[in-house]
Amino acid sequence: MHVLVTGGAGYIGSHAALLLLEAGHRVSVFDNLSNSSPEALKRVHQMSGSAPELFVGDLLDADRVTEVLEITKPDAVIHFGGLKAVGESVEKPITYYQNNVVGTLNLITAMESAQVKRLVFSSSATVYAESKELPLVENAQRDASNPYGRTKLHIEQILEDLAVSDPQWSIAILRYFNPVGAHPSGNIGEDPQGIPNNLMPFIAQVAVGRRNEVRVFGTDYPTYDGTGVRDYIHVMDLAQGHLDALGYLNQNTGQYVWNLGTGSGTSVLDVIGAFSRACGRQLPYELVDRRPGDIAEYYGDPTTARLELGWKAERGIEEMARDMWKWQSNNPSGYPDYDLEGIPEDELNKFIRGARESLPETK
Ligand code: NAD
Ligand code: UFG
Repeated sequence: MHVLVTGGAGYIGSHAALLLLEAGHRVSVFDNLSNSSPEALKRVHQMSGSAPELFVGDLLDADRVTEVLEITKPDAVIHFGGLKAVGESVEKPITYYQNNVVGTLNLITAMESAQVKRLVFSSSATVYAESKELPLVENAQRDASNPYGRTKLHIEQILEDLAVSDPQWSIAILRYFNPVGAHPSGNIGEDPQGIPNNLMPFIAQVAVGRRNEVRVFGTDYPTYDGTGVRDYIHVMDLAQGHLDALGYLNQNTGQYVWNLGTGSGTSVLDVIGAFSRACGRQLPYELVDRRPGDIAEYYGDPTTARLELGWKAERGIEEMARDMWKWQSNNPSGYPDYDLEGIPEDELNKFIRGARESLPETK
């Protein structure tokens, strides 16, 4: 199949692009590179032996989205493109609603006019209302507690309405729990800008000496060791879930929701322990107050994905830490910091294909 991957240069998108190419699919990527690097796609090419084609563009540029859909005429779209920082979404809610909700509306509109009606969407466990009933099942009550989460909730509702209005659509809403880890080669991984908000990337930066110590936010939660508990999922398992969802959509129209998680939770202290084993030294940490807005514990029930997709998370917290460490230790500062200003798309594609050796790096 030919798959258009929005946000395909990003963390999860690059891993999914790799698996798609390795499975023999053709991949086009639509990305504005606002939170990603063409280097990730170059490495995806080196690893898979097939180059994804990059279309540089913004989901907010409706004409460009339409143009790329018309040029590529894909069999399906996987839609990762979006902004994802919870704290930033509180400061800039309209930016988040624009980028995520309007961006998705532009995408769907362009897909309709190109008669492409197969879509996999990156949703999040953040759409679940806080609940004591764990694990979370797909029909649990929804309610988001911040603008980022509300963009995901609104998009889910838009997609539901769309599927009801036109039965030709095939739509998968994938609710990710906490994606971590990297490709086991350590060639591609998560490269957060600035100080990481999320636990695992922060720990990884402590492990390579970029930060002094991990802060453990809260030790008085009603959890097995008092620290927050989450359902961490290896990005390779998560990426595989997208291929399985695509396979399902090839056979079925309608709209489907699947949790992608492991089904069990791990505490902050246990994540630090796993990473310490992976990097071979006890990582320093400090116990501090709770982070406002955090909840004690949640993890998802992945049974529906297992029964309907045949998908199951295969990797545990030790492999997540091992692969994240491999990525971070091979790339202590993440991807090179390229100055992409003014570089045309065809030059970026030459770089991805290896026909152009380098891009200018910022000092
Ligand atoms: P990421 O930031 O690494 O990837 C997102 C990509 O989208 C980036 O390459 C970015 O440049 C691109 N992008 C953003 N806005 C765009 C726009 N307007 N036009 C074109 N491209 C745009 O993030 P990720 O962790 O790979 O997340 C992928 C998706 O999964 C996002 O939708 C995110 O909300 C969702 N998600 C992520 C997590 C997580 O913890 N990483 C959890 C649940 C859901
Ligand atoms: N934590 C720390 N120290 C840190 C960072 C986090 O102790 O420096 C703790 C948090 O309190 C929480 C756990 O580690 O208990 C995980 O926190 P993350 O920030 O890594 O992840 P969250 O579960 O808070 O949120 C993430 C994404 C959201 C997404 C959600 C569900 O940031 O966007 O997972 O998918 F919605």
